[in-house]
Order: sequence, then C-alpha cells, then structure tokens
Amino acid sequence: MSASRPTVLLAGKVHPRVRARVETDFDAISIETADPELLDEGVRSRIRGLAAATAISADFIDLLPNLEVIANFGVGYDSVDAAHAARRQVMVTNTPDVLSDEVADTTVGLLLNTVRELPKAEAYLRAGRWEREGAYPLTSLSLRGRTVGIFGLGRIGLAIARRLEAFGLPIHYHTRNKRTDVAYPWHARLIDMAAAVDTLIVVVPGGAATEKAVNAEVLDALGPQGVLISVGRGTTIDEPALIEALSDRRIAAAGLDVFAREPHVPQALIDLPNTCLLPHVASASLSTRNAMADLVVDNLAAWLAGKPALTPVPECAGFDRKPG
Ligand code: NAP
Ligand code: 8YV
Repeated sequence: MSASRPTVLLAGKVHPRVRARVETDFDAISIETADPELLDEGVRSRIRGLAAATAISADFIDLLPNLEVIANFGVGYDSVDAAHAARRQVMVTNTPDVLSDEVADTTVGLLLNTVRELPKAEAYLRAGRWEREGAYPLTSLSLRGRTVGIFGLGRIGLAIARRLEAFGLPIHYHTRNKRTDVAYPWHARLIDMAAAVDTLIVVVPGGAATEKAVNAEVLDALGPQGVLISVGRGTTIDEPALIEALSDRRIAAAGLDVFAREPHVPQALIDLPNTCLLPHVASASLSTRNAMADLVVDNLAAWLAGKPALTPVPECAGFDRKPG
C-alpha cells in the first residue's frame, strides 16, 4: 500500500484493462464477488473507489465507510444500488455512448439472424447438407415489409432506429417521455406499440420499472408474425410467457442477447426452433470493451482527484462537482 495512492477495490471478474490501469495508478485490492467476508475491517475503511463488475448492494456500500465512487463496467447499472449510493453521496458512474454503435450493430445482426436464419443456414452448409440435400429451405420470415417498435429510444435505441431506417423500415417507439427531436410515432403504452408493429426491439434498462414488462399480453398484441429482439436486460421479458408464446406460435420468433438469470439460459429457449440466442455479446468487441474499461478508470481517477465525474448516473448528477 502507498499512503499517497487512494485504495480502489476491484470487485468481480474485472476487465484486464481496468485491472492493469488500477494496479498502476492506485493501491488495488481484488475480490471475486462483493462479499463482505472477503475484506477485513482495516481494509474496508481504506477503500475510496470501487470498480464494479458484479452486483453492488446497499449493504455492501454501507460496509465501506470511506467509499467515494463506484465506477460500473457497463452502461446498464441495474446491479448497483445507485439510489442508496446517492443517498450516501457516493458517486456512481457508468459507461454510456462508447458502446452504443457496437450494441446497435449487434442488434441489427441479431434481427437479421433471427428472421433469415443465417446461423442455421451456415450450420447446414458446415454439416455438408447443402451438397447432400440441396438448398437450405426458404425462410418463412423476412425483414422486408416489417414495422419496427423500439421499447427504449435512448442512446442505443436511437442508434438502432437510424440503422433500421436505412434498411427502409418504419420505426415506432415507446418511452415514458415523448422525444422532441425525432418524428417517429410515439406510443404512451407499450401494448399499443406492440399492436401497431410486428417487430419489437427491447433496449430499456433493467430494474423494477421494466421488470417483466414484455408479458403475454404484449406478445399477443405483437401477433403471429411477431418477432421479439431483446438486448436490454433479460428481466424485462417474462421468459415463461415468451416460451409459451413461441411454442404456441402466438409470435413467430425471438432473438435474445440477454436473459433473466445469466449465464443460465432456460433449456426450453435453447430447444425451440424459432429462437436465435447470443451469450450477452452486444458490446463484446476488444475495442469497445477497452473503451468501456478506460471510461471506468477515467471516472475513478477524476472523482478521486476532486474533479467532476465524466459520466455520472442520473441519480448522482445532483451532487457532481462543477467543472473548474
Ligand atoms: P439510455 O440512453 O438511458 O436509454 C434508455 C431508454 O429507455 C430511454 O429512451 C428511456 O426513456 C427508456 N426507458 C427507461 N425506463 C423506461 C420505462 N420504465 N418505460 C419505458 N421506457 C423506459 O440507455 P442506453 O445507453 O440506450 O442503454 C439502454 C440499456 O441497454 C442499458 O441500460 C442496458 O441495460 C442495456 N445494454 C445492453 C447491452 C448488451 O450487451 N446486451 C449493452 C449495452 C446496454 P424515458 O426515460 O423517457 O422512459
Ligand atoms: C456488458 C452491458 O456486457 O453495458 C451494458 O449494460 O450489458 C454490456 O455492455 C456488461 O455491462 C458487462 O459485461
């Protein structure tokens, strides 16, 4: 430990670039999970910064009396109790913007793979079936003629919308607040948007406000030609209801990058022929994850040096420092 260097806790499976930079610039301590048993009292009282790659509860925050900042690896911070941190004047930061284009690209890829069955067609070729059995069957679904509804037209939702506009598809959206900077039709209720479109893209934050928002009623409103694409958080989808709707063909197909209890994926989703499944990879390129890692450490460095946070979460914006 160095007296002049603030102590920063690395919690969870931290990105290697976060680890390397924190170990260079700070007094670093690592734990695999945010388990208070792993830290004795002397260590807890030294910790001023926390780089989070795991869930951080209110109880864990309260065990660190001198904590000043939690830098979350990811734009979604539903696993950090930010409201509690804010009450304690502990800054919470996330990693917005630097991943939006990557996640939007992946979402478009997932949508195409879901409707045009490209992973299955490639598996068919690799298994030698093209040569043995002839052409891959025509896909029953197409992107052509679809109308897209985006649930969550924030940074990533808008990047998806702009891409799909270039594909010639009409875009609708549902958020709590109507945007004044886009002309896409806005729906005050998710169910009304689901009824107006046949392709529902979910990219809202996780948490209580969106938990199981995509339920049986919303899926039925989407209808038998309906395609669900989910890249926000798995908790937003009622997974048992989705499995039933896919099994009964009350919707046509689903492409999912996120799941309610990751890394567990329900076997029924894996067994269904009309799903396309990814292991939470929407931002997972080396370059984008490096940019996220840099933003995590830059936020820690700024706050611990007495400067404003670079990307404070809304709960903490009220006590961010003024640039000076
Ligand atoms: P953002 O800019 O904050 O956008 C969130 C959007 O959701 C806003 O349009 C917001 O509008 C809307 N929203 C929030 N709560 C809502 C509610 N209860 N009902 C309806 N709309 C609601 O966030 P972002 O940067 O686009 O990221 C979105 C989420 O994507 C993240 O929180 C994260 O969970 C997820 N994500 C996943 C991956 C992946 O690897 N799969 C990667 C990055 C991000 P209003 O406030 O007006 O409602
Ligand atoms: C990451 C994400 O996969 O930013 C987010 O909210 O879900 C993804 O970019 C995750 O944060 C860490 O692995």
